[in-house]
Amino acid sequence: MHRESAGEEVHRDKNTKNILVVLGGGRPNGNTKQLADAFAKGAADAGHNVEIVSLDKVEVKGCLGCNACRYGKPCVQKDGFNELIPAIKSADLIVFASPLLFWTISSKLKAFIERFYCIAEEEENPPYGRYEKYPVKDAALLMTSADDFFWTYEQAVSYYKFAIINYIGFNDKGMLLAGGCGDTNGKPQIDKTNHLAEAYQFGKNIYAGQ
Ligand SMILES: Cc1cc2nc3c(=O)[nH]c(=O)nc-3n(C[C@H](O)[C@H](O)[C@H](O)COP(=O)(O)O)c2cc1C
Repeated sequence: MHRESAGEEVHRDKNTKNILVVLGGGRPNGNTKQLADAFAKGAADAGHNVEIVSLDKVEVKGCLGCNACRYGKPCVQKDGFNELIPAIKSADLIVFASPLLFWTISSKLKAFIERFYCIAEEEENPPYGRYEKYPVKDAALLMTSADDFFWTYEQAVSYYKFAIINYIGFNDKGMLLAGGCGDTNGKPQIDKTNHLAEAYQFGKNIYAGQ
């Protein structure tokens, strides 16, 4: 299991949050990894416990839709998701990080989100449009892309708001949509933009003033 911690483990008081950054692909030291690292550094410098999990290293397959979990059984898929469940459950904030691939989040991150199905619980009176209960977490979105048009992130943001915020019911703590990080064929160029500084500040201030 490849998991990284950003910064020293610190004493957990009410202002110290457990932050799980899920890196949904991208190059090993690509734009998205650099963005996630900058966010994690800011959050760790603010005193939070930060863990980064890369879905390139921890294999998480998409949901099979077998519904075994709806009959009290553990997920039939024996992959990395099961090992991530304790970190998911103890996280106050889950940060979803992905390159923009064909105008949306990566398939690896989508597969990870699908597997939340097996940690949902029965809810007697679910809100309109939902069938089950999910643990309540804060959420944030970090993305990188080559393009930087006003519509570049429309699909990805729509999915994040629809699935993570409105459906699963997480509290949105914000998004950093890092457009203009270099062309698809070239080297990562995020270090030539302001996005890493923005990500550091985003991480540092995400719980400021609470
Ligand atoms: C398969 C593939 C699809 C991509 N699709 C898009 C896209 O739809 N829009 C865009 O602006 N950039 C697209 N890109 C560019 C990446 O989003 C961009 O280079 C990103 O920063 C790569 O992240 P990484 O350096 O972490 O790998 C694509 C790249 C690849 C490899």
